[in-house]
Amino acid sequence: MRRFVFRCSECRQEYEEDPTLLVCPACAEFQEAGGSTRGVLEVVASDLPTDWPDRDPSDPRFLAAFLPVVGPESFPAFRAGGTPLLPAPRLAASLGADRLWIKDDTRNPSGSTKDRASLLVAAKAREYGFETVAAASTGNAGTALAAVGAAAGLETIVFVPASAPEAKLVQMLSYGARVLPVEGSYDEAFELCLEACRELGWYNRNTALNPFTLEGKKTAALEIALSMSPEVPDVVVVPVGDGVILSGLARGFADLVAAGLTARAPRLIAVQPEGSGAIARAWMSGLEEARPVPGAHSVADSLTVEAPRNARLCLRHLRETDGGAVTVSDRQILAAIPDLAAATGVFAEPAAAAVVAGLGVALESGVVSREEAIVLMVTGSGLKDVPAAARAVRRPDPVEPSLEAIVRRLRLPRGERGTATSPS
Ligand SMILES: Cc1ncc(COP(=O)(O)O)c(C=O)c1O
Ligand SMILES: [Zn+2]
Repeated sequence: MRRFVFRCSECRQEYEEDPTLLVCPACAEFQEAGGSTRGVLEVVASDLPTDWPDRDPSDPRFLAAFLPVVGPESFPAFRAGGTPLLPAPRLAASLGADRLWIKDDTRNPSGSTKDRASLLVAAKAREYGFETVAAASTGNAGTALAAVGAAAGLETIVFVPASAPEAKLVQMLSYGARVLPVEGSYDEAFELCLEACRELGWYNRNTALNPFTLEGKKTAALEIALSMSPEVPDVVVVPVGDGVILSGLARGFADLVAAGLTARAPRLIAVQPEGSGAIARAWMSGLEEARPVPGAHSVADSLTVEAPRNARLCLRHLRETDGGAVTVSDRQILAAIPDLAAATGVFAEPAAAAVVAGLGVALESGVVSREEAIVLMVTGSGLKDVPAAARAVRRPDPVEPSLEAIVRRLRLPRGERGTATSPS
């Protein structure tokens, strides 16, 4: 049986793969003795393929070639990823960029990028023989876990802030998860889930703590590289909360360079809301560690985190890729929802639309230059938070059912009305 090795991102200590190992024991000891750093555990890459597998990227055989599983049979019957990379010339023109693509991860089965990590975690839960998997989530990770769990026959338990958007709650309930809406913040839900898993013996999918959450997200990088091959994007713009999607992408691009499948890795740009920007603030102050933002708040619920769990590693990936970070206001995030939808046909939730606003800021401030080949990571569907999107459009009053009323409403000039002709 294939066994893998976990390595601490800080002290580099290595450990045998172990489902109960969530924090580096060496770092935890150091921290208890007054030290301030704590690493996250990463899976050490082994046996990377030197050729692209001749498979669709969502095929379990493609996934098993790049991800740390025993084999393709570890995966349940659930297809995550394999989402399109769409050229976005009209959005590029409106933002002042030359070449722009959308990685449309709204098209995952449960509507967000989180399906990628949840699929890998469910595969590992099956390998380890767990029946129950629990997660703390701002909404999407729990929904994704519930969806994959349904396909895998796993019991899923999700801790969410009670304020999570209704669509996410209804979605996870429909998939059959046992949902615990916690009267508190995401950070409180996170600690509660950690304690419950420890005491009750459930497998823990908390992002950054479970090493496979970071690992599972790298498939988005593989797909971007495969879609653009032999070209490599210069820049990938990523919405950031805990910072795990960004680090997963960094891992994926680094693996490809190590395997000789791509020539170089792109620069990674983090986008955070002004009211929940611990990582971006640390970046702008030149710090290696993020300071928590008590009472973090944003219309982008998926990015609302007080103490990002993967901040140090995320900041390191920004440094190593020569990347950057920007913040955007709630007003800019809301405006970006119809801007993106109307220019590309992609309807995104606030967290995902934030990258459009973020790219605007990055181009204006010179963090990204217009000649670069840019990919926007659009991580979640607008259908997950319709009330937020509704704040950015004006809903028309009902119109009387007559042609005259429609012409009046649309302000069509009477003389210039075209006549419909039937095709000859
Ligand atoms: C749609 C969406 N985008 C971005 C993020 C941020 O990901 P991370 O917390 O890994 O930075 C999340 C996390 O919940 C999300 O659901
Ligand atoms: Zn360590």
